[in-house]
Amino acid sequence: MARKFFVGGNWKCNGTAEEVKKIVNTLNEAQVPSQDVVEVVVSPPYVFLPLTKSILRPDFHVAAQNCWVKKGGAYTGEVSAEMLVNLDIPWVILGHSERRALLNESNEFVGDKVAYALAQGLKVIACVGETLEQREAGSTMDVVAAQTKAIADRVSNWSNVVIAYEPVWAIGTGKVASPAQAQEVHDELRKWLAKNVSADVAATTRIIYGGSVNGGNCKELGGQADVDGFLVGGASLKPEFIDIIKAAE
Ligand code: G3P
Repeated sequence: MARKFFVGGNWKCNGTAEEVKKIVNTLNEAQVPSQDVVEVVVSPPYVFLPLTKSILRPDFHVAAQNCWVKKGGAYTGEVSAEMLVNLDIPWVILGHSERRALLNESNEFVGDKVAYALAQGLKVIACVGETLEQREAGSTMDVVAAQTKAIADRVSNWSNVVIAYEPVWAIGTGKVASPAQAQEVHDELRKWLAKNVSADVAATTRIIYGGSVNGGNCKELGGQADVDGFLVGGASLKPEFIDIIKAAE
């Protein structure tokens, strides 16, 4: 089963309106493979979602970097899934390791967020990944399986889910996982889906890699059998993001 390559750009808490326009202008002018070959989703901070969506080329799409776990209300500072739907924002990143660590988002809380966002019609990039300590303790798959189980316990329709494996020790460090390391976890994760969800979900769900992806390492990483694309941080703010999109060729 061919899975369409997926490249996400997570801009994190960066940018000004002028910088957003500059980045989007670079993206709009780029020659890239057709959307039949690669799905491109960029994720600005909440405040720049309407601006980004209004000027971005029609074959690229936008994602929020988070959303609240239930219907909106007395939750100061939160942004609800319904609000994203109201703004016609189709994607949302959930469970990013920075939120798991800095805001203590538990596996169950992330699972509830994924289920609620899907139920409102959003498409979800669900992040999983282990810390360096967990990897060095040999617990990588235990951790990633528990994070994925918390989602699988709450989600029945996986057609709008992309899983992003982002080893925490590779995020923002320049210490990218080797192609073999990435392939090993993606393969184990796909096997987990086959055993615990279904063979079809395992075969069709895109599992993308994130953590220090750049224009130099994307081709070899993307050539791995179970690496279906990337979730890119720092490099997504630079013109080399175009080279990473072209790794889909
Ligand atoms: O969500 C993607 C991000 O965590 C990866 O960051 O800067 O290592 O590409 P970076």
